[in-house]
Amino acid sequence: MSWKRTFNPLGNNLHSHTSGNDNKRMVCQLSLCGGLKCHDGVHLKKSRGAYIEMSIFSVGNRVSVRGELDAADCSRLLAAMHNEVHVKKYQDIELDFSDCTKAYPAEMVAVCVKCQQLWKEGVDIHLSLPTERKMSKLFLNTNWAHLIDIRQFEPSRYRGYTHAPALRFSSGKEQYEAINKILEILLAALLKLKREDLRIIEWALNEITDNVINHSQSPIGGLVQVTNHRQQSQIQFVVADAGIGIPGSLRPARPDIRNDQEALDAAIREGVTRDNAVGQGNGLYGTWQISKKSFGRFRLLSGYASLESSERDGLRIQKRDIPLSGTLVSCRIGYAADLALEDALIFSGKRHVPTDYIETHFEAREDGSIVFDLSQESEGFGSRAAGDPVRRKLHNVIRMSDADRVIIDLDKVLLVSSSYADEVFGKLFIELGPLEFSRRIDIQNVDPLVQALIDKAILQRMRQ
Ligand SMILES: Nc1ncnc2c1ncn2[C@@H]1O[C@H](COP(=O)(O)OP(=O)(O)OP(=O)(O)O)[C@@H](O)[C@H]1O
Ligand SMILES: [Mg+2]
Repeated sequence: MSWKRTFNPLGNNLHSHTSGNDNKRMVCQLSLCGGLKCHDGVHLKKSRGAYIEMSIFSVGNRVSVRGELDAADCSRLLAAMHNEVHVKKYQDIELDFSDCTKAYPAEMVAVCVKCQQLWKEGVDIHLSLPTERKMSKLFLNTNWAHLIDIRQFEPSRYRGYTHAPALRFSSGKEQYEAINKILEILLAALLKLKREDLRIIEWALNEITDNVINHSQSPIGGLVQVTNHRQQSQIQFVVADAGIGIPGSLRPARPDIRNDQEALDAAIREGVTRDNAVGQGNGLYGTWQISKKSFGRFRLLSGYASLESSERDGLRIQKRDIPLSGTLVSCRIGYAADLALEDALIFSGKRHVPTDYIETHFEAREDGSIVFDLSQESEGFGSRAAGDPVRRKLHNVIRMSDADRVIIDLDKVLLVSSSYADEVFGKLFIELGPLEFSRRIDIQNVDPLVQALIDKAILQRMRQ
């Protein structure tokens, strides 16, 4: 068998080969695939010295993803989508993930950004969900399905412990709301997190999303997604936009920067900013430092360059063959008990202590107490599922706040189920212990019937 490859930087590789067996000439039209080989209609790519089935291929207006969508395949997928619309001129494309068996937040957020951009340009996108049940649930829960195919899929209403679904923001107000939503989800999910860690994560999330608003000129704003990797005790956040990219923003102000790799290298250094009147050059530097201090991982993709930093591999900056239009930041932050993340934010030699969600949302009153309004905090009062995130959040607020007393205000709560009462109050009583529960908590404005149910739940737990 002989085969040859021609390369077209717009994302269209033509591979042709003649098969020795039947002498039939096959031409496969594929998107940017390295080391490709074709056999009996199966598309193969070279991976770790062996040929494995190709993960990305396009036929007509359909781009299919097969197997695991890794970083390299993601670039090919983005190029293939670009090719469908800007070279083949399709106004509707189909993204077929039915055979996709694994996908990761950074790659998928990049795909979602591309889809949002294409929707804005008037292109219709149809998504076929993965057929594997776990994978299709992942697409729905993380909001990827909605962001890819806004017509077919509703926004995610997922309230679990693994993801804060990907959210889009395009103004300062939307950015603020998105970060608040994410912090609420983290507070309602994680019990191992220290206040210092949450504060540092909040700072980094604010900085990186702020960069989208301040520098990117992205026509669709940005996307932000947070994932909790429980086993590694790491929080990962991904922020991506479809804007001018870091080289596009930084190079006009810094003519000494010769290429995209140098631009990314410069952007993560302390004090490097495109404009001193706009920023101080702390955001990327501080976020990178946090990931380093916590033995996490930091990735930056923009233009023709990628930057990666981890404890194991150090700092690596590489040239990319396929450009990423816009910017993608992926940061993993470890929150294991023995890390002192507060030391990560040192600017001009001074330690920076940012304000945090607890401070701004649970401000202590003059008498030293804070108020937790249950009717605002709960999405329902009928089930354990509704009560569980509320208890976690309450527990975190009690644990993290400096306030002497936490007032749980039950005004407007007219009825709760016994299981809800147990999930919130019974379990919290056990978690805090009787003395701490009565020392820190005041339940106010409670309806007599609701009070009876709460009393019963606590008494039952005491008897166990
Ligand atoms: N999403 C983005 N799109 C385009 N350019 C970006 C983006 N994020 C960062 N940059 C570029 O990288 C530079 C450094 O970013 P960094 O967040 O470290 O500092 P800053 O935003 O300028 O200042 P500060 O973060 O202190 O407010 C920015 O000035 C900008 O030129
Ligand atoms: Mg910044």
